[in-house]
Amino acid sequence: MLHLKSQVEIDRIRASCRIAAEAMLRVAEELKPGVTTYHLDQIADQYIRSQNAVASALGYRGFPRSICISINEEVVHGIPCERVVKAGDILAVDIAVKKDGYHGDMNVSMSADQISPQAQSLLDATRQSLEEGLATCEPDKRLGDIGHAIQSYVEQRGFSIVREYCGHGIGRNFHEDPQLLHYGIAGTGRRLQPGMVFTIEPMVNEGAPDTRVLDDNWTAVTVDGKLSAQYEHTVAVTRDGPDVLSRFDDLPY
Ligand code: MF3
Ligand code: CO
Repeated sequence: MLHLKSQVEIDRIRASCRIAAEAMLRVAEELKPGVTTYHLDQIADQYIRSQNAVASALGYRGFPRSICISINEEVVHGIPCERVVKAGDILAVDIAVKKDGYHGDMNVSMSADQISPQAQSLLDATRQSLEEGLATCEPDKRLGDIGHAIQSYVEQRGFSIVREYCGHGIGRNFHEDPQLLHYGIAGTGRRLQPGMVFTIEPMVNEGAPDTRVLDDNWTAVTVDGKLSAQYEHTVAVTRDGPDVLSRFDDLPY
């Protein structure tokens, strides 16, 4: 069942996204070599609680922390811990927030210090692939058009798109219909309609697309050990095109 959202619901999701984006800014400000990922988790968690909101990830299917931090070859769902961030690491920071019954979700890849040119081009390609996907969110386009736009952008740059994890509808539930693949065939899949709200969150690998899950049952890593990056926004389809609910004029994301 796919629930089309009213403008009131869309604005509630935006309000949750705003808290996620503010938390993201605070994490980015704290990020430097020597800091632990647990510290970054606590910075986000404290800000979210200060807004009378909760972190959507905390306790979700037993997830033990408030945000996900996936470093270097980690693809998604990394668990904040006592690991110390090093210069040159790339961190995908995933923050989702629930406030007044509605969730908002975003992810930004960032680095503690200078990173290699190859790592920078992976981040640039991943970020731009998300933009290509967002720009496709117009009524009468199809879900497959979004996946196709992302996949073709990524593969033209010699990187690969992860298949095992996808974007998702979001609203009263953290994950709801529709499921959004980051690869696909143009002109296929469900037609986009005003009121659809979902995330686009491409995971892009430097090498092969294959992933596996570590023994902690959460952290997904690349099989070949090469880098992976991710960016995510929450977007509403409107009559006038995409409304990126997790993007704000006065915030950098
Ligand atoms: N943005 C990620 C997702 O939608 C966050 C997952 S939170 C976790 O899958 F708790 F499932 F890890
Ligand atoms: Co998500």
